[in-house]
Amino acid sequence: IKRSFSSSAVRNVVIKNVTIIGGGQMGAGIAQVAASTGHSVTLVDMTDDILKKAMKGIQSSLRRVVKKTFSGDPESGDDFIQKVMQNVSTSTEPSAAIATSDLILEAIVENMKIKQDLFGFLDKMAPEHTIFASNTSSLPISDIASATSRPDRCAGLHFFNPVPLMKLVEVIATTSTSPETSESLLNFTKALGKTPVCCKFLNPCLFLSAGHASKEDIDTGMKLGAGYPMGPFELSDYVGLDTIKFIMDGGKKEPDNPIFAPSELLNKLVAEGKLGKKTLEGFYKYNK
Ligand code: NAI
Repeated sequence: IKRSFSSSAVRNVVIKNVTIIGGGQMGAGIAQVAASTGHSVTLVDMTDDILKKAMKGIQSSLRRVVKKTFSGDPESGDDFIQKVMQNVSTSTEPSAAIATSDLILEAIVENMKIKQDLFGFLDKMAPEHTIFASNTSSLPISDIASATSRPDRCAGLHFFNPVPLMKLVEVIATTSTSPETSESLLNFTKALGKTPVCCKFLNPCLFLSAGHASKEDIDTGMKLGAGYPMGPFELSDYVGLDTIKFIMDGGKKEPDNPIFAPSELLNKLVAEGKLGKKTLEGFYKYNK
């Protein structure tokens, strides 16, 4: 009976209450965007001082947003900031927030053991339907998820820096992530006003260097065949090849994982300053 209840409980989770663990650069940015789009957010970190700093950062970032979007109407701008700030609470002791969370997103230090310990701890406290996501740049999501009893409700949700400005978010499903979890995260990402792309990996050079197909064919195949909004080469150009190289280099600790295999082509393009759309040339050439 419990099984059938739990599988219906995990279907179509509408994400409203969000706990974000880690109030640094990324966590604070994600909290700002989630609160600005009407989500109820609890931001968690290790000390009150860090959290105070994060809240100050969110407030001044919102002031910059409001200057542009409410330029002729400062009063409505102030109201907006106040409403957004009311949607964010902070805590160094997250158990109450966890108990009502639809999504717990971690943006803590990039360390496998610490992320696994956190997910294991959260798994014991969070309700059955709660989805766990990691903002990791380089660690395998399946390894982080293996510390829980809910790998079907674990995924990567990878934002780009600075979060309020960058439109793209990668929703990273493992082989265990359920379609319902992916769908809930896609809907959440859209509710944030972002453009999600689904991916299992982002090392297109692997395929190209192995001579499987041209970059144009791979991009077309992924768009028409897999329904992705952008192919992996286009996406890499959009993200920035320097960022992609940074992520790939981060995976050097896992020499046997082919996803992080070094790519001569990527290294060459970065060395030549061909970083993608922002420099008008990467895998492809762009007009101004
Ligand atoms: P950061 O160093 O600015 O912030 C991390 C925060 O997590 C700190 O405030 C720290 O006190 C807190 N923290 C560490 N362990 C904790 C724990 N056990 N419980 C609660 N809080 C804890 O780091 P940043 O740059 O925000 O990165 C966070 C994550 O996001 C990393 O996994 C990183 O790989 C990823 N990421 C970073 C990007 C960037 O451009 N900085 C881009 C995309 C992903």
